[in-house]
Amino acid sequence: MRCRFLIVLAVTACGGGGAPASPEARAVVEFVGAYPDEAKPTGVVREFAIVAEPTELALLDGKPLRVWAYNGQVPGPTLRVKLGETLRVTFTNKLPQESTIHWHGVRVPNGMDGVPGITQPAVQPGESFVYEFTPKDAGTFWFHPHVRASEQVERGLYGVLIVEDASPLPYSREVVWVLDDWSIDPSGQIAGQFNTRHDLMHDGRWGNALTINGKTSTELRVQPGERMRLRMLSSANGRVFVPDFGELDAKVVAVDGMYLREPMAARGFELAPGNRLDVELAFDRSVAAPLEVWDRFYAQRPNRLATIVVDGPLVETPRFEVPKARVPVWAEGLEVPATHDFRLNSRGGGPYGIAWTIDGVAMSADHAHHEMHPSLSLAKGAFARLTFTNESARIHPIHTHGMFFRLLARNVVRVDEPFFRDTVLVHAREQIDVGVVPTDAGTWMMHCHILEHAEAGMMTTIRVR
Ligand code: C2O
Ligand code: CU
Repeated sequence: MRCRFLIVLAVTACGGGGAPASPEARAVVEFVGAYPDEAKPTGVVREFAIVAEPTELALLDGKPLRVWAYNGQVPGPTLRVKLGETLRVTFTNKLPQESTIHWHGVRVPNGMDGVPGITQPAVQPGESFVYEFTPKDAGTFWFHPHVRASEQVERGLYGVLIVEDASPLPYSREVVWVLDDWSIDPSGQIAGQFNTRHDLMHDGRWGNALTINGKTSTELRVQPGERMRLRMLSSANGRVFVPDFGELDAKVVAVDGMYLREPMAARGFELAPGNRLDVELAFDRSVAAPLEVWDRFYAQRPNRLATIVVDGPLVETPRFEVPKARVPVWAEGLEVPATHDFRLNSRGGGPYGIAWTIDGVAMSADHAHHEMHPSLSLAKGAFARLTFTNESARIHPIHTHGMFFRLLARNVVRVDEPFFRDTVLVHAREQIDVGVVPTDAGTWMMHCHILEHAEAGMMTTIRVR
């Protein structure tokens, strides 16, 4: 009811002049046109088959690694469609345990979201499930299982979904980097203990092998003059990356799939598990020494991620404008009373001896009793301010399914990030505020994307109606 009332107010305000009555209503007006309410299917259907199966691949430094893979590769296939095209993905589970596919960041119909027990039954070994949806937004997305994810994602199950703009930007090159972090045991295989007490007490499973697209050493060769789009995402269970491009001309053009109000310098962005970062790199001349890309999440202990070699004849630099998204400032967002304050914490007990909680409750990983679990209700089309209070000393990249939000404040200090997100890192003891106008009805998961924390309970649901 409240939602309808706000929409009526907003519409009246748009059409009839005169400021709407409340900050909530003004926030809704400001949101109009940020991204579409509905998909606009062109009628083109792209069919894909995805099979999840154990296999052995030459990964990391090239030695055979026993993994679980989508279509026999890690990362899995990159699915590419154009905005308006419909995906029809037949998923077949040949794993020794049940699974699903979740389309991270994609606003899908609720029944296609891949959450067992909530949006669909888990896909049993030997069974198939057809996912069909038309993305509403162009951008960089990814997909992964939503069952025992701390094990299944770590073993190699993830792939990229690229939804191209209706008319793709004419970059001279486009590159996808899936950043991952593996825990490899002395025998050279994926350490077989998952959800260990150590990982649960800390920030999840941080490994000893950092990879881009499954390899520990990455060299990218480009020509001077190139203007490149680098689509990055983190499929790590727990590790946070802060990519540093050094002296390179690097601009962020999209975050979590979505364009920004205006591109910004690519410096200091925390690429937490689940986040995507699209960076534009311009190479205006050849450089003698290879350029290096570092992860500087820990300034004292940086990790080299890749080298870039700029060499060869000069090519013509494509000239075009990157689209500017309509991203609300929501200057009065903090004046809107918080719809809910989620408290993030842990306690002893549960199947792993330590449980991660939201508002004191740990959600069981199979969601078996989710009906008894408190769910926040939000009205479709209405502005809501959500607060997250991290009462723990660990970090939590909080991810919402089915909706984007904008960060409003960290520790009550206003921030105006010029972009939406679907995942934000909440630091130890930090409090953040986000603003959201849900556009998609359904019961959506909200959880920590440190997969061990989620497995041990740090999940809840948001009902949008
Ligand atoms: Cu990428 Cu619910 O997750
Ligand atoms: Cu967490």
